[in-house]
Amino acid sequence: MCGITGYIGYRIASPIIIKGLERLEYRGYDSAGIMVYNQGKLEISKTKGKVADLKKILSDKIHKEANIGIGHTRWATHGEPNDVNAHPHTSNSGDLVIIHNGIIENFNSLRKELSKRGFKFESDTDTEVLINLIEDVKNNNNCKLGKAVQIALNQVVGAYAIAVFDRNNPEEIVVAKLGSPLAIGISKDNTEFFIASDASPFIEYTNNAIYLEDQEMAVISLGTDIKMYKVADDSQVEPYIQELKLNLDQIEKGGYDHFMLKEIYEQPRAVTDTYRGRLLANKGIIRVAGIDDNIEKFLKAKRIIISACGTSWHAGLVAEYLFEDLARIPVEVEYSSEFRYRNPIINEGDIVIAISQSGETADTLAAIKLAKEKGAFVFGVCNVVGSTIARETHAGAYTHAGPEIGVASTKAFTTQITILALIALKLGKAKGVISQEKYQSYLYELESIPEKIEQLLKQDKKIKEIAKIYKDSPNFLYLGRGYNFPVALEGALKLKEISYIHAEGYPAAEMKHGPIALIDENMPIVAIAPNLKHYEKVVSNIHEIKSRKGKIIAIVTEGDVDVKVLADHVIEIPHISEAFSPLITTIPLQLLSYHIAVMRNCNVDQPRNLAKSVTVE
Ligand code: M6R
Repeated sequence: MCGITGYIGYRIASPIIIKGLERLEYRGYDSAGIMVYNQGKLEISKTKGKVADLKKILSDKIHKEANIGIGHTRWATHGEPNDVNAHPHTSNSGDLVIIHNGIIENFNSLRKELSKRGFKFESDTDTEVLINLIEDVKNNNNCKLGKAVQIALNQVVGAYAIAVFDRNNPEEIVVAKLGSPLAIGISKDNTEFFIASDASPFIEYTNNAIYLEDQEMAVISLGTDIKMYKVADDSQVEPYIQELKLNLDQIEKGGYDHFMLKEIYEQPRAVTDTYRGRLLANKGIIRVAGIDDNIEKFLKAKRIIISACGTSWHAGLVAEYLFEDLARIPVEVEYSSEFRYRNPIINEGDIVIAISQSGETADTLAAIKLAKEKGAFVFGVCNVVGSTIARETHAGAYTHAGPEIGVASTKAFTTQITILALIALKLGKAKGVISQEKYQSYLYELESIPEKIEQLLKQDKKIKEIAKIYKDSPNFLYLGRGYNFPVALEGALKLKEISYIHAEGYPAAEMKHGPIALIDENMPIVAIAPNLKHYEKVVSNIHEIKSRKGKIIAIVTEGDVDVKVLADHVIEIPHISEAFSPLITTIPLQLLSYHIAVMRNCNVDQPRNLAKSVTVE
């Protein structure tokens, strides 16, 4: 979490840094700060709150001439969000300045050591300890900043993406990375360099970027090339410059009030992009390069273990149904945060699939490392191209959803399910466990999903009306069965995280084992009840709710009769097979939580206490 950015070049640095921070704010928004070097002076402004608050305290006079600087938007780990704990942090001499994303785990022992040597600390942060450690090393070795950073980082345990500036050498920024992402944008003529947690702050200036690998560092100097080194031994690394495909439109709101709404509405396009070039329905072919290249391993797999967090974990639960149903491969779905510490049993022939939108989630990354150590073949499903998880896995498939900026995942979920459905179908066909006829009808049906999502989006107004009725309810219950049980969990998570309403998702039949006690005339229950395998059972569950006076918002198949007479509100979905129903039933739940959050005046795109990519454990 935390977003870091920086600039060295010929333009005025502060507007570039501030705009960059606004784009990185999805990573954390507890406090924000900026440092520019202006004619011999370090000018630092920082404050608790959002980048908008930082903008308010930046006077018109300062920062005008500066063309070098760094900025930070924070998601607090060590020390509460306040002005003092906000980044940048300065060393005791006032010469060195740092911004940091990550956690220095041994900061307490380092702080004690440095205190003994006379260093004083103003903040509660691990970052202030790191900058003073760098200063201590620099003084003791009488070396340049780059060397001091390299030596200091070898004494550090934890994760970092840092940018460090020394006012004695003001045409240079030193950056380094371990565990947290860091990209450097480079203008075509090498006259400008941009530092950022992802490419969004610099994509309007350049498409050329270097993504640092773990334990790499770079010395970026004005007017020269970037020099890259290994943190471990200072050996030189050849920079690898990639050309990015991202464009500015993809990271702007495009007329929508919120990124979340834009991303909900983008789903027909996003799902199409996920299967584009992979699903050739007319020819009866599915191509997924990462699977095709490793098909033997997948066909021999005795078990698939899926590791993920949050919404990606819910997509993993849907995949459990898909793989078991369509390809007859046993699946276990694990929270990465539990899996990584559980000493799990991984046998030869097991495959681990890690699912992550951002490709940076620390727990999922740790789960991948553990699985690799235990000899598993690890396959990644990520959205962000070039992300750490995409690079750490043996093979993988991108979802191609495009940048997801709203903290609440929407299009990531549907595109993850789409790629996992393609894989399950491909394996089912190759293993001969689904008939040619069934396989072919699934392919055509997958192609029709974007149109079906479009149809549902047309009911937005109706869903908004329902939201108006229930926006002040303190609790919600979401019920679903089979493939739609994970959708119930996902619906509840969406509502919780953006509207701060307590919500729980349950398999409908579990209701009578406890949650039914919660039901009274004030409890809204979202029942996912399409006319599929469990329909009659869910109808019985709805009767049980009705007889306890619960308020029922039902998701039903068009033409439904039985639920309609029981429910207070129905939202109709088009006909769809069981296996792909989560791609459709989830849409009204996204819209419902979106509208409720807006009506409650919640910050939809930046809900409290959350961040888009969780790079701390
Ligand atoms: O980037 P990832 O998919 O690994 O992120 C996992 C979770 O942090 C994420 O899905 C989170 O639960 C979202 N805020 C849910 O909307």
